[in-house]
Amino acid sequence: MTSDLGVSTAGEPRPLMAGRLEGKVCVVTGTGGSIGRATALTFAREGAFVVGCDVAVEPAEETVEMARAEGGRMVSLQPCRLSDPADCGRLVELAVSEFGQIDVLFNLAAAAYFNRLEDISDEEWDSARRNEVDLVARSPASGDDASPGSERSCNDHAERFRRN
Ligand SMILES: NC(=O)c1ccc[n+]([C@@H]2O[C@H](COP(=O)([O-])OP(=O)(O)OC[C@H]3O[C@@H](n4cnc5c(N)ncnc54)[C@H](O)[C@@H]3O)[C@@H](O)[C@H]2O)c1
Repeated sequence: MTSDLGVSTAGEPRPLMAGRLEGKVCVVTGTGGSIGRATALTFAREGAFVVGCDVAVEPAEETVEMARAEGGRMVSLQPCRLSDPADCGRLVELAVSEFGQIDVLFNLAAAAYFNRLEDISDEEWDSARRNEVDLVARSPASGDDASPGSERSCNDHAERFRRN
């Protein structure tokens, strides 16, 4: 008998969530960064097909190598600038062409701009909004131009391939 905490009731360790993502196609953004890399490796260990991306080429490639070295299945697009709708489309196309579907979209990539509130410049404020909030959450479904071809974010592009 086991608990959900990674140890059996007899006190023996067991793999956490082993195989829980088997066969799932998981798109993770920002896989060159710390949380993105950890996520990609964890998802791959759990059996997922991982599709990563990052604007930073070398760290993103390193993550792919690390996942594959452990036997994981991962592809990645770099450089991929997620503020560019065309790159968002390319990322989703990569997932679908490699693995045929998308089950999970983890919109993680973001860049924060910190400063004391009284010192923050308009430019920093705009950068924080664009690179933290818009990048993760913006969708035409919440705007006036929700028409075919108006896809801006990964959410919009991935919506076409979402399985119910
Ligand atoms: N680290 C934390 O403790 C923490 C806590 C709460 C929230 N977060 C959020 O999670 C995000 C990721 O955290 P992290 O520690 O992994 O950051 P990180 O800086 O290590 O990784 C972020 C990655 O996203 C990439 N990226 C940024 N903008 C991009 C863009 N426009 N297109 C493509 N790639 C882009 C960067 O190149 C980087 O590799 C943070 O931005 C933050 O909003 C982090």
